[in-house]
Amino acid sequence: MLSLFTDKSSLTTLFEEGFVDIHNHILPGIDDGAKTFADSLKMLEAYSKYQITQIVATPHIIQGVWPNDENSITAAYNQLLSKLNDSVYSDFTIRYAAEYMMDEGFLTLVKQKALLPIKDNMVLLEMSYFNPPLNLKELLFEVQLQGYVPILAHPERYFSYHSQFDAYLKLKQAGCLFQLNLLSLIGFYGLPSQKAALKILDKGLYDFAGTDAHKAEHLKLLKNIKKNSIIKKLKPLIENSKRFV
Ligand SMILES: [Fe+2]
Repeated sequence: MLSLFTDKSSLTTLFEEGFVDIHNHILPGIDDGAKTFADSLKMLEAYSKYQITQIVATPHIIQGVWPNDENSITAAYNQLLSKLNDSVYSDFTIRYAAEYMMDEGFLTLVKQKALLPIKDNMVLLEMSYFNPPLNLKELLFEVQLQGYVPILAHPERYFSYHSQFDAYLKLKQAGCLFQLNLLSLIGFYGLPSQKAALKILDKGLYDFAGTDAHKAEHLKLLKNIKKNSIIKKLKPLIENSKRFV
């Protein structure tokens, strides 16, 4: 059967070799991602077209905006899983973690050693797109002091870093791993983020890639990442995702 997903020069080929999506908002009703179980199902359908069956759900935890905690996340997770058991998606492996905004609430959780890791001690962090926290260095230090390895989500999306590339090098030196949002590469978040993503990728500073999908439409766009030179550089990042199996 002919399909939109059969283009072998695209990212889909890499996905077929195995990919664990460590950044997405598939859990229903707890952040700005999937609103309902039906939305989650649509996302699973889109994942399955790429033969992606391993997912770590990372709902937002943002004080005063998406005040999730382990209880709200496990409730949404269990609801999704209970409905999947008898469905065509029962072969999916879905786990949960969180995407932590580095705010005051986050610091409390770090000190309590109460973070939900993607795997082992690796935690997914984000910050304001406009202003990094003033105490960013101290926060990252505290995270590592408590035994966690910080993975910074979508470094290419932080506007204040676009004009100072050195900031990325300093973050890496401070112990941060970098997770690329794949759609940044085709300008989904705007030209400045696309340029930053291509440069960070070119310099070999990314450790992982994720979709950050909030809905099925985001996943469907991934097939448009096709440029050979980009696919070549993505290969090790997709390969790295297997450590999260
Ligand atoms: Fe996200």
